[in-house]
Amino acid sequence: MNFIPPVWTSPARRNLSRQFLRAYGGSKGCTVLNSMHVRWTGSASRRRKNVGVPKNVQLEPPARQLRAEESPWEDYLIPELRGNSRPKRPEQYSSTASPFYVLGVESSCDDTAAAVVCSDGTILGEASVSQEQLTEQWGGVVPHVARDAHERAIIAVIRDALTQASISESDLSAVAATMGPGLEVCLRVGYRAARDLARRNNLDFVAVNHLEAHLLVARMPQKQLSPAEIVELKVHNTCLDEKHEETSLSFPFLTLLVSGGHCQLLLVRGVADYEVLGGTLDDALGEAYDKTARLLGLRVGGGGGPALEALAKEGNPHAIPFPVPMTKRPDCNFSFAGLKTSVRVAIDKLGGDTVVHADRRKMSDIAASFQEIAVQHLEQRVKRAVKLCAQKVPEVDTLVISGGVAANLTVRSRLGKLCEDVSWRCIVPPIRLCTDNGVMVAWTGIERLRRCIADDTNHLDVRARWPLAGLGDLATPLPPDTSSLS
Ligand code: KG4
Ligand code: ZN
Repeated sequence: MNFIPPVWTSPARRNLSRQFLRAYGGSKGCTVLNSMHVRWTGSASRRRKNVGVPKNVQLEPPARQLRAEESPWEDYLIPELRGNSRPKRPEQYSSTASPFYVLGVESSCDDTAAAVVCSDGTILGEASVSQEQLTEQWGGVVPHVARDAHERAIIAVIRDALTQASISESDLSAVAATMGPGLEVCLRVGYRAARDLARRNNLDFVAVNHLEAHLLVARMPQKQLSPAEIVELKVHNTCLDEKHEETSLSFPFLTLLVSGGHCQLLLVRGVADYEVLGGTLDDALGEAYDKTARLLGLRVGGGGGPALEALAKEGNPHAIPFPVPMTKRPDCNFSFAGLKTSVRVAIDKLGGDTVVHADRRKMSDIAASFQEIAVQHLEQRVKRAVKLCAQKVPEVDTLVISGGVAANLTVRSRLGKLCEDVSWRCIVPPIRLCTDNGVMVAWTGIERLRRCIADDTNHLDVRARWPLAGLGDLATPLPPDTSSLS
């Protein structure tokens, strides 16, 4: 991901820069040791260029990368992830108390969404406005354009969710809002609306990490599934009970988080307790889908992923043998930039954009071949993560697939099959809850309130970068073992 921390020009900005670097984990040209010290890596000119350091600031010489046990990440990330306050009346959130209602607000990227969810998992009201047309028109998400669209929509979206739920603001117990990661200017629109509503009604407020929301929504009991969704979830091997109501997803579990901005394998030990096994070294999987869809000239307003998936259904997945990324790297990291470049090269070889775009067969073969290799890459990394868990955390026997790309049927079924082969459960949220929505934010609020985690809005701001955790022991690669992994 491209991220340039701000230039160090004044004490205030320097502090800001440190906050950025701390949140980012310091992998681009620097390593953050603690709140006062940053170690720089790479050549001096590269370091200046990467982090925008002015010429008059003296840089320390390059240093080796910190090992996981030396990493200061835990110290500053986890306390914030655990909230900065407690609920006003914690007793109302205990498991024996009567059900409570939480409003969730999401505005981290190009969807303005809100939902009212009951603590038993019933979705009472849900509303959203997508910026599909704007994304199509601008060829992507432009922060200030997206912000203005959020501003136009936010109040009506919240009002719609409450009206659908037949609930007034004061009947709510708490409001939860996505505070990061995402586009700051967009996040702030949702945060301010949610914060003002909470203050007006003296409600608890919960700051929600968007990534945590994606993965925790898999734990929400599914009360209102349509018959089609029941079939869909059963096909994909989830653990619905007889009445198709409850899921029994308990901690710990392994999560593959695949969205437009993230691609990570995480061990989820509990709410706000995560360990990263691996992440992408360049593009996220959703981003690779989006970029490839653009190379093929598809409409990307609603996300390139669904358009590419639909096209891939018509094609031959073995038509073009793209190389599978990183087969020789014995870790759980991902890389999708090379695959995207291979698509570019294939289009050129097949006659260029004009020729390929006019030939539906060629287009669908490229889409299917891209998807096949992307999924093979996922399978390899997940297999390795399963193996790591078997050695180091044997009680883990469940894979959760979450984030926008979890809506992809090929991803769901292939990883479901992989889990079946190793006698693991594979849990995926219903498709409509995979992409950004207000329900996942409200549900994460419920999960956190149950654990007495809340936030004081006097000491809060949104965060563009907000990693769930740092690399832990599990990220240490196993010795290469080609027999079962590749
Ligand atoms: O989670 P999400 O809604 O937003 C982020 O948090 O990024 O994920 C959006 C991403 C987009 O890149 C979109 O192309 C991808 O998820 N996506 C899909 C599918 N549906 C959404 N990718 C592949 N297949 C799909 N069916
Ligand atoms: Zn998302």
